[in-house]
Amino acid sequence: MEQTQTSSIIGKTVAEYMGKTQRSRKLWEAAREKLPSGSSRTSVFYAPYPCYAQTAQGSKIVDVDGNERIDYCYNFTSLILGHRHPAVMKAVNDQMEKGTVFGAPTELELRHAETIKKRMPSLERVRYAVTGSEACMFAIRVARAFTSRNKVAKFEGGYHGSSDPASVSVHPHLPDVASDEITPMPETAGLTPGTLENTVMLPFNNFEKTEEIMRQNRRELACLIVEPMMRGIPPESDFLKSIRELTRDLDIVLIFDEVITGFRLSAGGAQEKYHVQPDLTTMGKVIGGGFPIGAIGGQEEIMSLMAHESTDFLSYKGASVPHAGTFNAHPITLAAGIATLNELTSETYAKLDETGEQLREGFSEATSSLGVEAQVVGVGSCFDIYFSNKTVKDYRSAHTGDQLLRRCLDLDLLNRGVYLPPQHFGCTSTVTSREDIRTTMKVIHESLHALLPLIKETR
Ligand SMILES: Cc1ncc(COP(=O)(O)O)c(C=O)c1O
Repeated sequence: MEQTQTSSIIGKTVAEYMGKTQRSRKLWEAAREKLPSGSSRTSVFYAPYPCYAQTAQGSKIVDVDGNERIDYCYNFTSLILGHRHPAVMKAVNDQMEKGTVFGAPTELELRHAETIKKRMPSLERVRYAVTGSEACMFAIRVARAFTSRNKVAKFEGGYHGSSDPASVSVHPHLPDVASDEITPMPETAGLTPGTLENTVMLPFNNFEKTEEIMRQNRRELACLIVEPMMRGIPPESDFLKSIRELTRDLDIVLIFDEVITGFRLSAGGAQEKYHVQPDLTTMGKVIGGGFPIGAIGGQEEIMSLMAHESTDFLSYKGASVPHAGTFNAHPITLAAGIATLNELTSETYAKLDETGEQLREGFSEATSSLGVEAQVVGVGSCFDIYFSNKTVKDYRSAHTGDQLLRRCLDLDLLNRGVYLPPQHFGCTSTVTSREDIRTTMKVIHESLHALLPLIKETR
């Protein structure tokens, strides 16, 4: 294959994208004068520039140039009922009539906590935050306070938001990492050396190695934090159960980061699906019904460190892990979250799983019929594709995937009316329809077919 043909396929895909998104381009160019790289969050930027959203309804999202697409991003898995679900809109409008936010608690926090606790029994106590990042940061802090130890164990490639302790080896550059060693790498400039010194890296889905590393560091480890489905990669059988037994044996707090999996993989999250109870759970996304949220919950013994030591009028004493936030437990968010959770039934979960499975099958059939080497992963309503011939089971095997090809596929799908979040796994919602799936399958096939010369060239 001529190099020029490769560049011409890439050039054509980018040119078509630019042709369809002129107003987005203008907005982005203006935004570059105001925001670093014209962007408000790293995750929504992709080259050459992102589509600017205008409206959305149900399973469709429309950009400022009027291009309608089937959404599989759903604000990075948070909109499980799709866009502008009537029950959520009503709950939000009703709450708006009463007030937006108050410097006082509301009954909604009790009702929301009851709603999630009913579904996830490990949540003996719950606290709210505004983001999943904060939830993970507080979970780590409270685990450190509880154990009086400093180190945090996490899996290479695991994402737990943007706090300092979480900003280690999320996307490490592999040539910088010695072959079979897993050393903590800074995810960002600006971390203190202490952050790296206090992080212990583990390989996902490799219990033998995980156990060895955890045992070596047992006396200094406060917690192990894990995404039960790591960036779309499922846990191998009994992996989560084994780390549960190990952390219990070593007296280390086990934190399940269920910011994505909580109330998406099943009514009780990944912990219900895989029959494993962590000590602490972090949540976000789905439980806010489309509004900003984070939450930490778990064992009363640990969570009580966030409670006032005395609430007595005369002998009032604060918490050993104080936890504040102007917008914590925001009434609009909680109203939207309760309305969302109330819509999720065994039937809706069955539908979410079915549409996720159909898309995984669609990708697998398209790649095998076209002779494209690819790995399709995901659990329930979540799906992803890696252009790799290696089984994807951890960060390193996922990293063998061809990233340029993936970027081309993402852009080409946008051109054809499908919004798979660039460089991120996709998900369905309860309103993803049969028609959406049929159209998407056809588009996936057409797109891979169009990119075929490029795929063959990069092999
Ligand atoms: C597993 C996981 N943990 C934590 C976070 C951080 O949540 P937020 O973006 O609300 O800060 C995310 C966000 O995508 C996530 O996927």
